[in-house]
Amino acid sequence: MAQTRENWRSRSGFIIAAAGSAVGLGNIWRFPYVAGENGGGAFIAIYLGIVFTLGFSVFLAEQTIGRASKRSPIAAFRTLRGGAWPIVGFIGVLAAVVILPFYSVVGGWTFGFVWKSILTTTAEAGSFGNFISHGWLPILFHALFMSATVGIVIAGVNSGIERWCRILLPGLVVIMIVLIIRSITLSGAEKGLAFFLQPDFSKVTMATIQAALSQAFFSISVGMGVMITYGSYIARERSLPGDAACVIGLDSLFAILAGLIILPAVFAMGQNPSAGPVLTFVTLPKIFAEISGGTIFAILFFVILSVAALTSAISILEVVVAHLSDEHDFSRHKGTIATGIILFLAGIPAALSFGPWADVTLFGMTIFDLMDFFATKLLLPAGAIGMALFIGWVFWPTAADNLNRPDVSPPKWAPVWRWMCAIISPALILWVMIGGF
Ligand code: PFF
Repeated sequence: MAQTRENWRSRSGFIIAAAGSAVGLGNIWRFPYVAGENGGGAFIAIYLGIVFTLGFSVFLAEQTIGRASKRSPIAAFRTLRGGAWPIVGFIGVLAAVVILPFYSVVGGWTFGFVWKSILTTTAEAGSFGNFISHGWLPILFHALFMSATVGIVIAGVNSGIERWCRILLPGLVVIMIVLIIRSITLSGAEKGLAFFLQPDFSKVTMATIQAALSQAFFSISVGMGVMITYGSYIARERSLPGDAACVIGLDSLFAILAGLIILPAVFAMGQNPSAGPVLTFVTLPKIFAEISGGTIFAILFFVILSVAALTSAISILEVVVAHLSDEHDFSRHKGTIATGIILFLAGIPAALSFGPWADVTLFGMTIFDLMDFFATKLLLPAGAIGMALFIGWVFWPTAADNLNRPDVSPPKWAPVWRWMCAIISPALILWVMIGGF
């Protein structure tokens, strides 16, 4: 029954858990290199503009759907309207089922790199590259990462998700500050700082804006129904917009902190800032091998990457588990274990895509790339468009009444939010989707 649903235990429960979901590989692994490829500071400025307007609108849309229905994504749409709308929830759950397997593979690499950093006295660059192409080793670490995710989700919303995010996120900040200090005190680091922070608008093209949009939506975890699910555990007495702004602010802060770790070190050590996805997994280990105290900094860096990945992975698993419990009467225990095992198996082909199965391709993509493409370029944007349209055209004006506590009238800017959801956000997301092809 909806009434017996768990709520976040503390006032900041939602903020902590949702920030844990938002702050992930997208912030630490992806943001610095996407910023590096797209004009540094100019990209950051555009990114912040997008995330606090369009991103905020869609985030608030999801949160509102969740809190108003007190259900997981598919059940939420059925409760609030029915008709064909539960399909939007279904897209979200499908995205979770496709993303978690390969997200867990990369999470497994981060675990593996912590282990490698501990074992090797100096962080040997080559050994990292070999790791992901090794046959069974990445599968083993993928299993470990998935087990950790399952272990937290099985303990429940309060004792598992809320509790662990409360422990892990502050730890993340502390370690990141240590790493920033190390990075910006390397000689030559100021070139990296300038590159990262000084806006160069001459490099901005339509492609920059598309990159910023797609990074923004992925980074704040919208489109999958995470915020519907986490929103369904928010008590009626809270107002939603403040929490949304906090989560987006924290997410942006972590992305910028990650850039402050990575780019100054990259410049100080004469590496290429536009190295792309390998910036974290290949370039950085090379840097750690050269700086004094490199081993300890390598361990710390891959610990933060692991923690960030873990708190995001639990939110993805929770979408599926909440769905199984709302719609199919699964206990949390049974739902979490069954999903964990099936999605672990689904991740094995993705793990092998960098080694023995590198030649297995479809439409010119490896299995890993195909899952990534299908979920992040197709399902997540489609889910986000559906959720925004639902608020703008179907659930209006009730949506506005659900933003604040029942006794407080809607904020003055609610109509702006409505049109962001009804037209502007869906149109721009569609534009990015088309660009993705
Ligand atoms: N926001 C996470 C990251 O930046 O890595 C990834 C993610 C988690 C995306 C959950 C979408 C989602 F629903």
